[in-house]
Amino acid sequence: MHIISPNFKEMGEPNIEIKAFPDGDGYIRIPKITDAAGEEVFLFQRLYPNQNTSILNTILILDVLRRVGAKTTLVVPYLPYSRQDKLFLEGEALSAQIICDLFANAGVNKLITLDCHFMKKEGEKSYSKLNILNISANKLLIEHARSKFGDSNFEIISPDQGANYLVSGYGGKSMAKVRGDYSDGKEVHREVGSLQRQFDVTDKNILVLDDMISTGGTMIKAVENLRRGGAKKIICAATHGFFLKDSLEKLNLISDSVFTTNSILNSVSEVDITNLLKKHCEI
Ligand code: R5P
Repeated sequence: MHIISPNFKEMGEPNIEIKAFPDGDGYIRIPKITDAAGEEVFLFQRLYPNQNTSILNTILILDVLRRVGAKTTLVVPYLPYSRQDKLFLEGEALSAQIICDLFANAGVNKLITLDCHFMKKEGEKSYSKLNILNISANKLLIEHARSKFGDSNFEIISPDQGANYLVSGYGGKSMAKVRGDYSDGKEVHREVGSLQRQFDVTDKNILVLDDMISTGGTMIKAVENLRRGGAKKIICAATHGFFLKDSLEKLNLISDSVFTTNSILNSVSEVDITNLLKKHCEI
């Protein structure tokens, strides 16, 4: 068994060279490639930020591994492009499937990831050509929240039905979210249209749990709704934290605490997922 970790320092110092030619084309080299020949290889790779370059470099790395007969498991804590698994408008690209097929065609035997948007539950399944193991970080996030709530009881909710699998095993409930149409302009974005709640939160402490906080629109609307409903202490947590624009500042103002895992590195990535990933890799 051999581990390759270009940018996943928790798994050890990078043992691969990733550079660029003067014109920007990517260059990769695995100096000790003979160690991987014919072996079971775990390639730990953060694909965000700079997802486009990172994905391409990963394809190059995978090809080198395939040529020496390695059996590669690709471990990516966050899988970019996983949000477009459905077509909304005619002529769109089904990017989630395209990226997965790229990895499968490049020789990935299995992809291990965390709270993958289109999987909607834990477990292993084939998505298009790729065999994926989706692991949830919900238990780690809930344990961390418990340390913040101290002795106080709290309820767990998700801001939409898609994230219900994160909370349902803990007696949690979900809000109902409806997104609007795509906004105009260069950026492709669908604002949260409405977010509704069918349960009482008066005087309750609440952990709001989601798979990701991206622009923060969902989490901000959820916290506002809970405040209006009379919730006491509100903590926001997600597996993946992008915190685009000024969403972290906004969430810090309206909630009692915000944190994520370190699947994406940010200033509140308080929950370490290294051991969780290692456990599922059996290393
Ligand atoms: C969506 O369905 C996801 O579970 C998240 O709620 C969403 O992607 C978060 O995005 P944003 O922070 O931009 O609202």
